Amino acid sequence: MNATGNAAGSAAGSAPEGAASNARFSFAGATAVVTGGTRGIGAAISAALLEAGARVHATYQGNEAAARAFADRAAAHGGRLVLDRFDVADAAAVERFWEGLETERVSILVNNAGLRRDGIVGTLKAADWDRVIATNLSGSFHMSKFAVRHMLRARYGRIVFVTSPAASHGFAGQANYSASKAGQVGLMRSLAREVAKKKITANCVSPGFVDTDLVADLAEDVRREHLASVPLGRFGEPAEIAYAVLALCAREASYVNGAVLEVSGGL
Ligand SMILES: NC(=O)c1ccc[n+]([C@@H]2O[C@H](COP(=O)([O-])OP(=O)(O)OC[C@H]3O[C@@H](n4cnc5c(N)ncnc54)[C@H](OP(=O)(O)O)[C@@H]3O)[C@@H](O)[C@H]2O)c1
Repeated sequence: MNATGNAAGSAAGSAPEGAASNARFSFAGATAVVTGGTRGIGAAISAALLEAGARVHATYQGNEAAARAFADRAAAHGGRLVLDRFDVADAAAVERFWEGLETERVSILVNNAGLRRDGIVGTLKAADWDRVIATNLSGSFHMSKFAVRHMLRARYGRIVFVTSPAASHGFAGQANYSASKAGQVGLMRSLAREVAKKKITANCVSPGFVDTDLVADLAEDVRREHLASVPLGRFGEPAEIAYAVLALCAREASYVNGAVLEVSGGL
């Protein structure tokens, strides 16, 4: 990928594996919102956008220590990072957040916040079903609803959902997670049709296995099994997912709409 112009950049070229952070884009002057933007994949997306010159609202739910640590690491970016704490599943909190952005012009939303509460269907607690759907799917809806209203004013926007191969493959013990991720794809595809004429695009990035806190509790045999299924023979790095997200957020990605970009090492 070698975007130019407003989203100027050069590809990593012959960069070695894991060197995705060498990719260069320019989002100078742009304002982005990244949910779950202070840890894991979201932190890598926030960091890449900051590095590319954007002002970034990185949201999180409650892990203050991780948010502070991320802000410390991003201190070099001249105050372009803003931390916002709220639950994406709380529609009223999401509305208040967007009301606070009235004077800003947000052109990028990355629906990245997500969690797992695994269990096989026969014994899965209703509360765990509800929490995962409320966060991963309804949270994406609440955020997108207000983002679209905001972006319509400028008649421009980029909305990216971080979904999962679980959406199409399904994983045993993850019915709630898989349903929430499949729901994100359906939401994205409808949204992509609704707002395309206003030059707002909606797409998904679907990461394979990426070493973050989200998968830290996987049993060793499950990890080995997952690893064996990845043709590239390794888990992904958060920066490698961020690279794909930035590519879809570039102004030049103007004809990519309603797409799911799998970044999974060939899973
Ligand atoms: N890691 C993988 O292998 C993988 C694979 C495919 C897809 N994904 C997807 O990628 C996304 C990021 O995953 P990750 O691995 O980076 O996870 P992670 O390290 O666990 O980070 C999750 C982030 O989401 C935030 N969050 C969770 N629930 C929230 C809520 N209700 N409201 C607001 N923020 C909330 C967390 O905030 P706090 O820090 O405050 O808790 C944290 O910043 C998720 O959507 C996940 O489903 C991950």
